[in-house]
Amino acid sequence: MSKIAICGGQKLNGEIMVQGSKNAALPILAATVLSDEECVLFNCPDLEDVRAALKIIDWLGGDTEYSKHTATISGGNIHRYKIPEELMNSMRSSVLFLGPMLAKLKRAEISYPGGCSIGLRPIDLHIKAFRQLGVTVEEIGGRIYCSAEKIKPCKVNLLFPSVGATENIMLLCALSDGETQILNAAREPEIVDLQNFLNSMGAKISGAGSETIHIIGVEKLQKVQYNIMSDRIFATTVLCAVACCGGDVILRNINPNHIELMLSMLAGAGCNIITGENYVRIRCSKRLLGLGKVMTSPYPGFPTDAQALFMSALSGAEGTTVFVENIFESRYKHVPELIKMGADIIVDGRLAAVTGCNYLQGATVEAQDLRGGAALVIAGLSAIGDTVIGGIRHIDRGYEHIEETFKGLGANIRRI
Ligand code: EPZ
Repeated sequence: MSKIAICGGQKLNGEIMVQGSKNAALPILAATVLSDEECVLFNCPDLEDVRAALKIIDWLGGDTEYSKHTATISGGNIHRYKIPEELMNSMRSSVLFLGPMLAKLKRAEISYPGGCSIGLRPIDLHIKAFRQLGVTVEEIGGRIYCSAEKIKPCKVNLLFPSVGATENIMLLCALSDGETQILNAAREPEIVDLQNFLNSMGAKISGAGSETIHIIGVEKLQKVQYNIMSDRIFATTVLCAVACCGGDVILRNINPNHIELMLSMLAGAGCNIITGENYVRIRCSKRLLGLGKVMTSPYPGFPTDAQALFMSALSGAEGTTVFVENIFESRYKHVPELIKMGADIIVDGRLAAVTGCNYLQGATVEAQDLRGGAALVIAGLSAIGDTVIGGIRHIDRGYEHIEETFKGLGANIRRI
């Protein structure tokens, strides 16, 4: 099993292009099932999870092709409505195929997408909404059997602004006859990207980015060419690395509005930030300052996906940062690994109190999940000495060759 080896302590300087967004690409890939014609997706990131989604589309009967960050999908021949367990388990977001399969084939059979190390990841909000919309759902022995002769458009009020549930309802109702409203919808930029993609195929959806989304169902969706938005969490990963290593880096092809809160937090920690229409420049030359209390919450609040990244960057800060993880129930698996590197962190339930140490020391550590693994890369880059990171399959789910990104900025990092 390959690992990542880092000799830390280098400053990071240069420019990078931000990769396409994993969390926008996955629902958009599921949405291509809705069209019988060709969909061409540009800026589609080269990731394990994207390959898993393309495999599911192939299994359903679609034709897929991927090269040079472009995915081409034709859904005309999609006829299978059962996704086997091994494909469901290959990727958490496989549940997003439920809506489009029901919309197109009137039935779908999947297994629970399975939890992961950050939490149980239930799909009860998806199922509750689908039942409200006229879908018959039976859960037998870990498999979910759904059928919907006719979607019954209505007002769906989400108990929690779930990203996946919001996306699945949009995918179910884009092809229907009538108006569906999603109240208490998730407001993430990836939801707006999904709305823009569906509308470019001929859907009639509005309100994404706000807490109420209106969907006027249409009969057919056309072919499309679409440019997927950039990955705001990838950008945050690079920003956190520069913040704690020091240096001067320009990130191109990123919308600063999507990471406004994180940019103001990094400025508050002592970084110099300049933004333009589609770039961010970060400079940092001194020890960071602790940020006090940092609570994760749905967009536009502080994203749970950035929690491990900021914790890593602030482990060597002057002062204390107390994280409150309100979204997932076990998203501190990176803490014991950071402690091996000399971090001073105490976890009590949803709270993690970080007291900045002078510097982190290189160590042998193990990634337990995607963003926790990226946090260990950040820690290794800033630490004094050598760090070896195992479990990098987790990191490869969401980052294209993460070692190349940082090698290009002057880091001493390689895959071994
Ligand atoms: C999406 O996951 C992202 N994944 C996650 O990013 C991100 O952390 C999360 O949204 C929150 O922003 C993708 O977009 C592919 P949720 P999702 O439904 O849709 C509970 C990464 O690192 N919940 O908003 O699964 C759930 O348990 C990944 O890129 C229910 O209780 O997130 C969690 O506590 C990790 N019942 C909370 O809601 C449900 O039916 C947020 O989940 C659904 C969710």
